[in-house]
Amino acid sequence: MQRLKTKVWTVDPDNPDLECLRQAAATLAAGGLVAFPTETVYGLGADGLNPVAVGGIFRAKGRPQDNPLILHVSSLEMAYSLMGDESERPRLEALAGAFWPGPLTMVVTKSEIVPEAVTGGLNTVGIRMPAHPVARALIEELGHPVAAPSANRSGVPSPTLPDHVLADLDGRIDGLVAGGACAVGVESTVLDITEEPPVLLRPGGVTPDELAHVLGGPVVVDKVVHVPVVDTDEPREVRSPGMKYRHYAPNTPLVLLEPGGDQLDRLRTVIDRRRQRGERVGLMLTDETAALGFSEPVIRMGSRQSPREIARRLFGLLREVDHLGVDVVIVEGIADEGVGLAVMNRLRRAAGERIT
Ligand code: TXA
Ligand code: MG
Repeated sequence: MQRLKTKVWTVDPDNPDLECLRQAAATLAAGGLVAFPTETVYGLGADGLNPVAVGGIFRAKGRPQDNPLILHVSSLEMAYSLMGDESERPRLEALAGAFWPGPLTMVVTKSEIVPEAVTGGLNTVGIRMPAHPVARALIEELGHPVAAPSANRSGVPSPTLPDHVLADLDGRIDGLVAGGACAVGVESTVLDITEEPPVLLRPGGVTPDELAHVLGGPVVVDKVVHVPVVDTDEPREVRSPGMKYRHYAPNTPLVLLEPGGDQLDRLRTVIDRRRQRGERVGLMLTDETAALGFSEPVIRMGSRQSPREIARRLFGLLREVDHLGVDVVIVEGIADEGVGLAVMNRLRRAAGERIT
């Protein structure tokens, strides 16, 4: 791949400089690739209606072609233009009223203007209206939906800081709008609303309870949400193509300690077993457990009482794992509740081994 000069526009995330956004939008309009902050993670944007530009995203990330992209919109009208089935509108409107702009992606039947390059050949498309002022302004300035996956090389943790984006994509993309840290820290919730009741395909910043409250009934959680890819060789139908790939993994092997039983006792057992094999062990622990004192190097995730805090820090911490200088990192799992479901989904997909 030809090496590009990546232009960095540094902006105030709450009040971005208009001239920077115009230049970034002009780069997108010309078919270029520009990374930008959203409230969840940094996205790698291209003009979502330009199939050639969209193709560039897959090359820059090294992403499998069959993994579809989300189209980001700045208005409901823009969302409607991407929808091919009128009967899905009321459902989208109700959920948009509660969660847009915000970390919810809705999968709908696509309209004819959505390029095949975006959907990987599916007849559905994921749509999201992000809450971040930079993201909104960029889409508005372009006047087209912006196709954007997370702005990382395929397989590694999603970026929540401009430095993460540059570490992965400097020289491979045209530009980066650098606007500080992402507040949510894990990607959006993906909900398939072509079905009634809708099906949760990926847990994220909006929790199943929040969805159920608005839907007036429990949300169906697709089985891929709980079962990590590494646990099974069984061929099974994958409804969200992204879920079949190993993801978020540092180079250092991760062992995930699922919650349950005497957590501390189980943790000590795993540490001892690994040490007996002559391995250097690192730990990634909740603040509560870390406070008990360990001789191994420890990465603190945040308080168990605050899954939102853990979510916000998670991907940055996963990027630190490889700097610990150890052979294996044991990660303490948290409860599958609220945003904890999104945290555990990412950890299960990052870990090569789980202890249940
Ligand atoms: O928060 C987010 O969603 C971030 C920011 C940048 O908006 N984007 C993001 O995109 O995480 P990406 O491409 O890394 O993840 C999109 C997920 C994938 O798991 C993909 O398979 C799923 O959404 N997806 C997209 N379109 C779909 C469709 N039509 N049907 C089923 N799943 C779809
Ligand atoms: Mg991603």
